[in-house]
Amino acid sequence: MSRILILGALGMLGRDLTEVLRSSSQGEIVPWDLEEIDIREEKETVEKIGELRPDVIINAAAFTRVDDCESQTERAFAVNAEGMKHVASAAWRCQAKVLYLSTDYIFDGKKREPYREGDPPHPLNVYGHSKWKGEEYVRALLKHWLIVRTQWLYGRHGNNFVNSLLGQAREKGELRVVDDQVGSPTYSADLSKFLAALIEKKAEGVIHVANSGTCSWYEFGKAILQLSGLSKIRVIPISSEELKRPATRPSYSVLGCQKFTETTGLRPRPWREALKDYLESLKE
Ligand SMILES: NC(=O)c1ccc[n+]([C@@H]2O[C@H](COP(=O)([O-])OP(=O)(O)OC[C@H]3O[C@@H](n4cnc5c(N)ncnc54)[C@H](OP(=O)(O)O)[C@@H]3O)[C@@H](O)[C@H]2O)c1
Repeated sequence: MSRILILGALGMLGRDLTEVLRSSSQGEIVPWDLEEIDIREEKETVEKIGELRPDVIINAAAFTRVDDCESQTERAFAVNAEGMKHVASAAWRCQAKVLYLSTDYIFDGKKREPYREGDPPHPLNVYGHSKWKGEEYVRALLKHWLIVRTQWLYGRHGNNFVNSLLGQAREKGELRVVDDQVGSPTYSADLSKFLAALIEKKAEGVIHVANSGTCSWYEFGKAILQLSGLSKIRVIPISSEELKRPATRPSYSVLGCQKFTETTGLRPRPWREALKDYLESLKE
């Protein structure tokens, strides 16, 4: 039976992934977060992982607050890049395979058709730079690895756009949402199943995975309100320029997922269907 270590196991994806992998009986699942290991610490990371001797390490641990990464560059690189390097170094010693979670924000959004795995990176913000550096360590230091790039995650266990929009809708009668960034909202419970399928297939290399279909944050916001019975709340489309967030985001970062489908035989369902299920699950 194989042993799968999940780093970042208390995060939004980590919690769903732990549940899905446990129920798919792929092996012994070991969920670790900051309390068990700080991947910024090389010695600790190498020693603790060395003692555990996992067969697969899923690195979902990250500093993910994209705007805060702009003012906390050191922390962003320490966790997202150097942390990955330490994990790779531990994995190499115990010959574990690594799955690193990466992001659409390694791209600049200038393309107007879905990004493919081999497209050149050009991150626009610190978070994207730090994640790309993490990818580079994976490629340079390991023989058996999988990098999964995904995007626009939401789920039950973390701060995300869906929850914050619903929170704001309860407080305000009118919302302003950016309409000039396009992507594919992705449900972390769906992503967890996709990751389980990739692990089962022993996939390697770079693979893009997201729910299918595309929208802007504004369109996503309208759908959230409509499916929650809050259509009467007014949503005003605004530009990224007007919102003035510290980190620049790509205007188009749709990920082409053909390789994922070829590898697993699975087709991610449309984002709106996944969103509907997520909103239903909030009522439980
Ligand atoms: N969220 C998205 O939209 C999105 C999109 C594309 C890719 N991704 C990638 O998907 C993965 C999972 O994202 P997520 O949204 O689930 O992230 P998340 O909710 O922020 O979870 C990350 C987890 O890692 C932990 N962590 C932070 N620093 C650590 C350290 N030094 N050592 C060990 N653990 C540490 C965090 O603990 P604290 O919370 O206590 O800091 C948190 O529990 C990340 O690699 C992210 O880059 C996310």
